[in-house]
Parts: sequence; C-alpha cells; structure tokens
Amino acid sequence: MSEEKKTRWYKDAFVYQIYPRSFCDSNGDGIGDIPGIISKLDHLKDLGVDAVWLSPCYKSPNDDNGYDISDYRDIMDEFGTLDDWKIMIKGMHDRGIKLIMDLVVNHTSDEHQWFKDSRLSKDNPYRDYYIWRKGKGKNGKKPPNNWTSRFGGSAWEYDDATEEWYLHLFTKKQPDLNWDNPKVRQEVIDICNYWFELGVDGFRCDVITYISKAKGLPDGKYNILARGDEHFTHGPNIHEYLKQVNKESWSKYDTMIVGEAAGVTIEQALLYTAEERKEMDCVFQFEHFEASFWMHIIPLKFDLRKIQKVFSRWQFGLMQKGWNSLYLENHDQPRSLDSYTPGFEGHREEAAKMLAVAIFMQQGTPFMYQGQEIGMTNYPFKSFDECKDVVVQNIRKMLHPLDKIFEKTAIKILKKRSRDNARTPMQWSSSENAGFSSSEPWIMVNPNFTEVNVEKDKENPNSILNFYKKLIAFRKGNEAIIKGSFKENDPGNKDILCYERWYHGERLFIVCNFKNSEVNFRAPLDAAYLECELALHNYGYDRPLLQSLVLRPYEAMVYILK
Ligand code: NOJ
Repeated sequence: MSEEKKTRWYKDAFVYQIYPRSFCDSNGDGIGDIPGIISKLDHLKDLGVDAVWLSPCYKSPNDDNGYDISDYRDIMDEFGTLDDWKIMIKGMHDRGIKLIMDLVVNHTSDEHQWFKDSRLSKDNPYRDYYIWRKGKGKNGKKPPNNWTSRFGGSAWEYDDATEEWYLHLFTKKQPDLNWDNPKVRQEVIDICNYWFELGVDGFRCDVITYISKAKGLPDGKYNILARGDEHFTHGPNIHEYLKQVNKESWSKYDTMIVGEAAGVTIEQALLYTAEERKEMDCVFQFEHFEASFWMHIIPLKFDLRKIQKVFSRWQFGLMQKGWNSLYLENHDQPRSLDSYTPGFEGHREEAAKMLAVAIFMQQGTPFMYQGQEIGMTNYPFKSFDECKDVVVQNIRKMLHPLDKIFEKTAIKILKKRSRDNARTPMQWSSSENAGFSSSEPWIMVNPNFTEVNVEKDKENPNSILNFYKKLIAFRKGNEAIIKGSFKENDPGNKDILCYERWYHGERLFIVCNFKNSEVNFRAPLDAAYLECELALHNYGYDRPLLQSLVLRPYEAMVYILK
C-alpha cells in the first residue's frame, strides 16, 4: 500500500493495552495467556475500543517478562501457540478491533540464536549483530565505557568465551543489537513484514530512541543514576534508520506506528512524527508522569500545575504538525489513581472517571491500560519479597547485604513507583484470584479485588466501566475532539484543569476538579452564558454550566456549548 493510500485510522481510534501475563489465565498455570485473551474479546468489544496494543507475546526466557525475545516469529510457551495467536487476531478483526504488537528491537534476549552465535567467536557471522568491545585496563577487565544500564549497574557484561564485553542498556540478558549493521536493519524489516502478512495493524516500538549509538561509544557525562544517555538517545543515525524501516515495511501497510520515547522533547517528537518525514505516527512522551518524581525515582508532592503545563505544551506543540498519544497508565507505570489523584480513597470512582475526562478529551490517540476501566489501584507492598520486577530485584542485589535496612524506605518508593503496581492480575470478579486464574497467580492479586472488579462494574450503571463506555462512544467520530484546536482556561489553577476544544462551530468545554474536596469554580463569561448540553458528568446528574459552581470532589464535566 502506498503512503498516500494509508488511512489515518489511528486518529479516531481508542487503544487498549493488554499485558498478557496478567490479563487472563485460561489453563490454570497462574500465568495469563492468549486463549485467556480470546475469552475476553467481548469485554473489549463491549467497551468500544478500536485497537489492542499487546505487550510482547513472543518466545522469551522472561528475564524482563517478554521484553527479552529469543524468537521473533513464534509465541511464548506459557502464552500458547501461533495457532492460538491466529485465532486471537481473527477474533479481534471479526469484532472490528485492530492489533498493534510490541516491537522490541533495541535488544534481543541473550538466548536468541543470533546472540548465541555472536558470542561463539570474534569472526562469527553474527558477531556484528551486537555491540562487542575490548575492555579497558591492563587485561581488558574494565568495561569499555562508563555507560550504565537503565536497570542498574554497568551497561557492559564481560564474556569469557571471547574475552570481550557486550553492551546491554537493560539487563545483561538483553544484549543491544547493532543497528549500524545493515543486516540487523534488514532482519527488523523482515520481522515487521512477517507479522504484517499475518495481519497485524501496527507496532509499538520499544525504547526505539536508543537504537543508534554515538560513534566510538564515548564516556557519558557524570550522572549518578544514568550515564551515557546523551550518546544513545536520539543517536546520530536514528532518523535514517527509521526512514528505512518505514520505507521498506511500515509504509507498505495500513498501520499505526507508535514509538516509546522517554525524555523526548516536542522538537524531537516532531522529527519523529511529522507526516512528511515518514518515520512514525506518534510517540509516547513521559513528561506528565515524570513531573511527580525527582531524578525519576523519588516521589514529589503532586502538583496539578506542572501536569497541566505538560498537557498544554504537548497539545499546542504538536497541533497540526504531529500527533499526540494520550495515556496515564501502562505496564511500566503505576496506577493513575495513585499517581494523579493522591488521596482519592473514599472517592475512587469519581476520581477514576475524572482522570478519564482530563486526559481523553485532548487531541491524540488514547491508550488505556487493562484495569484502568475499573479503577484498579497500586498494590500495598509490605516487603521486597513481594516484588517480581527485575528492576527491583537488581536494585535489591545491589543493596545486598544492607537491603533489609533500606527496605522500609524502598517500599515507600515502590508503592508509588514500582512497575509491579500495574502488573497485578486483572480483576475480573470477586471469586478466587480475582477470576484471573484457577490457581495461584505468578504475581500477587491486589486485595481490593472483592470491591474492584469487572463483574461488579458491569452490573452498576454508574460504574467506572460504564462511564468509560460512554466516554469512548462520545469520542468516536467527534470532530472537535479529533481535529479541534485546544484552549486552556485558568492555566495556573492548582486544583482545576479546564480546557476547551474548538472545531468550526463546535465547542467543547471540559472541567475537572483534581481535589478530593469541594472547590469553587468560575466559568469564563463567554462560556457560562451560552446554551449548553452536558455530554459527560462523573456524578451522573444534570448540571447546567453556571458562571459560578461549587465543584464536588473530583467532579468532571464535558459540555457542548452552542
Ligand atoms: C520499555 C518497556 O516498556 C519495559 O517494560 C521494558 O522493560 C524495557 N523497555 C526494556 O525492553
């Protein structure tokens, strides 16, 4: 398909992310799987989503839950078979749901055949698929540079077989591919085309901004946590490499390509996503989440003004030039209720609905994460032993033997930050293991599952789930939301997020109280005196837009002004 013929379906699509390990277990081994997903397709259809982003389901030894791939063309044993996958994609397509797969090609697993061959000898044909270097120091026993892994420690691992080091920006079981090697780029193109031919509709590209490393791999400037970033994020050849994959694969299909881009600025995002540049369709930026942490780790007091600034900058920055992705949750980030509405207890339902309005009335493609539709929350960690994430386990090893001393402080941080918060099993019902599995799940179930679950929400017309259904249906085809300009109201307000979307004669007025108590609100005069229709309200009763309103805790409204 030529680029001109590509439809921009993703601009009006609502995407639902599935983390397969934690979604639904069909065979009672405590691990979610593809037949489990198939059994829940009607839930997705009913919710009204248009596409699924499926976190990796390829063959993997699971050092990082599938983000370490040992065979890109087959399915992980715990998840099922390629035939199961084919039934799943057909089931999705039959329901009008597209499938976006995860493309993890900054690195492979060390158990991928390419790496196994690569480490055999310096002249192996696969040697140059990875980044091998001699060490420093007399006998080469010091790493080639000072880069650190995103998951802690040096980014280099020494390999006895050939007495050289290989680069791994994540765990040592995730060696980085060498994208400067044209054969590697061809492999990536072939992998993408293989899945497109099987019917997939797009890719979410894992840490795609890391694929091009600076020539000579120079030392990074001093940074206590992450060294080397400036030499491998948005590296020298990244645009050339993306354009090549786009030309030889992505552009030939009617796809959506979204790149994970930690630390990306608006200027860089435009380079990745401006349509005429033919690279990707949109990126995931992290600024709204990172605004609540110091050095990415230490939780700060939530400040709506910072978040509002980020939202507005991205809305204005990409308007008519690029395209935004809209999200508050994914498998790496904690639950949005805990991150964006601290103190929500007692108002969980209102807060979850308010957050949906706050983020998803903006311009861009919405991505929601499994469990967000029922307002799942962070896990109440009590000890290190409950943490499954390889990042936490690595930190724990680094702290050892003092890990128990630091445990209390670490747990405070983990409650706010740990990736496991999002990975607890999907809460389907109040039956054993939250209806996720008939046996003990691979990761703890959040004890609130008896209250917070899909079954309960289905029965309650005012539930978060039913609110999401309304919101998704309202968004569908709504030109003011999809194409409209963005206008912020009272941007410095510390409690209320208020913005408008305009498209020709249509005007949407959005107001969200982020506080867990009542707050006075004054609508702009030109809005308050217009005829208005209440399109969405998280308290569910009729509420005219008056110039002066006392907003209830976490109250949110969307008005159509005429
Ligand atoms: C980003 C993914 O979202 C995360 O889960 C993974 O651990 C790293 N990339 C490494 O692939």
